[in-house]
Amino acid sequence: MRFATKAVHSGNEPDRETGAVAPPIFTASTFAQDGVGKPRGYEYSRSGNPTRERLERAVAELEHGKHGLAFSSGLGATATVGSLLKKGDHVLICNDVYGGTFRIFNSVFANYGISFSKVDARDPDSLARAVRPSTRMVWMESPTNPLMVVLDIRAVAKIAREKGLILTVDNTFASPYLQNPLKLGATIVLHSTTKYISGHSDMVGGALAVSDEDLYGRLKFLQNAIGAVPSPFDCYLALRGMRTLHLRMEQHSRNAQAIAELLEGSGRATSVFYPFLESSPTYRLAKRQMSLGGGMLSFRIKGGYRAASRFLESLRVFVLAESLGGVESLAELPARMTHFSIPKVERGRLGITDDLIRLSVGIEDPLDLADDVRRALDRAASA
Ligand SMILES: Cc1ncc(COP(=O)(O)O)c(C=O)c1O
Repeated sequence: MRFATKAVHSGNEPDRETGAVAPPIFTASTFAQDGVGKPRGYEYSRSGNPTRERLERAVAELEHGKHGLAFSSGLGATATVGSLLKKGDHVLICNDVYGGTFRIFNSVFANYGISFSKVDARDPDSLARAVRPSTRMVWMESPTNPLMVVLDIRAVAKIAREKGLILTVDNTFASPYLQNPLKLGATIVLHSTTKYISGHSDMVGGALAVSDEDLYGRLKFLQNAIGAVPSPFDCYLALRGMRTLHLRMEQHSRNAQAIAELLEGSGRATSVFYPFLESSPTYRLAKRQMSLGGGMLSFRIKGGYRAASRFLESLRVFVLAESLGGVESLAELPARMTHFSIPKVERGRLGITDDLIRLSVGIEDPLDLADDVRRALDRAASA
């Protein structure tokens, strides 16, 4: 089946008991058993819940995986994947990952004796050279956050496979509609379902998709043992959002492309970062790896922090807020907001400077978005 059909129908079979086309939300925390040690299928909602299972199946189907797992947040999913590691293990983390991912490796897993190093995965050879005898996992995002660098997932997956490493790809920015890392050789795909999958900025959730049976068994054990599971209502919201993922991603991508081109031609940005801009150094790879450019972009505004804050405070349609992937357009300053948890020196090294603005372009009318950006650029220029 093709994507749109799967997005609408995966995990959405009519309820077997009542025929309800919108399946019920099972809020139960516990389930009656037919005898001692004889559950009918479910026992306790942390270990398994019918509404969560629908979401887990749907995520797996959209990502071309055999199994899905849902969590209470993207970081809940990250914590669970990180718990596959043991004391003494080492992880390679590609530059430019989400600030919270860096924070959990730097400030939480490090306390358990798990080390990591940052690598520039634009050069797969340097990634291969960085592998140590104790390396167990590679962690990457593409496009990266917030500089929208597209990394070659297939090339990284080849190295990971040759060295026997787990490759975890955070596919939050692209969504399963634009790219499927498992098909490119990744071992684990991670989503913050808070973003494009639910798509309406009204829940927080996470998900994983895998195909390896042994790995699925270990993750399923950890999901229950750690307990970062989502509420049935949040699973319902994620499923409901998923039904329109393909339509939203088309519009997000069209709008973002238009805003990226507007910014590039405005003379008010020193650089614009968007995967499908021809000027992007990773344009050809992006065209090969992704079906559309997606809804995220960033740019450096002329005039430094003063102009950046003036721009952000002048927007009327874009909302000044963290997060991304919802129907409404959002704007933020990564250095002071989403990426503030990365130490300043490291931020500077990565190019996350005070003039860098990140936009999550929504699905509003593109002309209104363009007017909003133009007006805010004018105001920023007169700051
Ligand atoms: C790329 C990416 N991965 C993971 C996360 C963490 O997800 P959550 O906020 O749902 O815990 C985020 C959150 O912004 C993100 O942007």
